[in-house]
Amino acid sequence: MVGDSSTDVEHLPVANDTEDAGTPVDGDDHVLLRVENLRKEYRSGSQPLVLFDGLSMTVRQGEMVAIVGESGAGKSTLLHLLAALDRPSAGDVYCASTWLGKLTAGQAATFRNREIGYVWQLHYLLPEFTALENVAMPLLAREEAKTTAFAKARELLGEVGLKDRTHHLAGELSGGEQQRVSLARALVTQPRLLLADEPTGNLDNRTAEAVFGLLERLHTTHRLTSILVTHNMEIARCCGRTLRLHEGRLHEVRLQARGPEVASFEGSTATSETPGHPIVRTAFPGGSTTGTA
Ligand SMILES: Nc1ncnc2c1ncn2[C@@H]1O[C@H](COP(=O)(O)OP(=O)(O)OP(=O)(O)O)[C@@H](O)[C@H]1O
Ligand SMILES: [Mg+2]
Repeated sequence: MVGDSSTDVEHLPVANDTEDAGTPVDGDDHVLLRVENLRKEYRSGSQPLVLFDGLSMTVRQGEMVAIVGESGAGKSTLLHLLAALDRPSAGDVYCASTWLGKLTAGQAATFRNREIGYVWQLHYLLPEFTALENVAMPLLAREEAKTTAFAKARELLGEVGLKDRTHHLAGELSGGEQQRVSLARALVTQPRLLLADEPTGNLDNRTAEAVFGLLERLHTTHRLTSILVTHNMEIARCCGRTLRLHEGRLHEVRLQARGPEVASFEGSTATSETPGHPIVRTAFPGGSTTGTA
């Protein structure tokens, strides 16, 4: 099930273990994100911790990419680097024409506000502010007029099916509603790139299915390029491409479309995935039902 995050990605077979998942494509106009030879090393304690070394990937405009990998592999760290929330020890990240390495802290904040929609696993909404205020916040931060900011925020809340929760405090909303508000907040600035770190990780199965269905719909209607970290193979399967972060490198994983009961991997022994159920995408009020798998 979508909400079941118990799948053991440690034993996930990969299509080609030796091939890194993102040899940069030179001169490809449709590449939105290009990561070259990334190294990230933490220095706390006596031993340096090298998370990646020589990690490369490219993501084309409009792609929806899942990143899977065992806990501690560095998935969140990688998303932080892609969002210019952190700096690599070496290597480069380019988003469209922006080279993140050259940004000052102020420019990085502007880049994030303009180009990136970020969904955190623990939504980080401000509980004492209303849903509307939370969604409008990134626009107010860049000093858009209040009337415009609130009008756009209202529109986004409608898109995620929360029109009737507009004036609820964020702290009064359910977990699923809070995650929908955080999706609205991520998209209110009309970013090009959506980065979502286990956006359904804390939700029950049914709510996770619904939130993922919504995310898929918004990916299409907002013409996004999306990168989604997940432990959930059902969600990964619904994305256009799955990359597994393992021992500091990204590897393509080819997940076959599944039948109603048993999962399998193309070109692999197909024994390691927990059998589950197909995704049933649920509609929110104001949204559309995307059917059943
Ligand atoms: N600021 C830091 N200083 C030192 N080590 C860190 C720091 N941030 C993360 N780490 C370490 O880096 C490793 C990767 O962390 P990260 O949060 O990226 O993993 P993850 O793949 O997102 O795991 P999970 O699936 O559990 O969320 C962990 O072992 C963590 O302890
Ligand atoms: Mg993480």
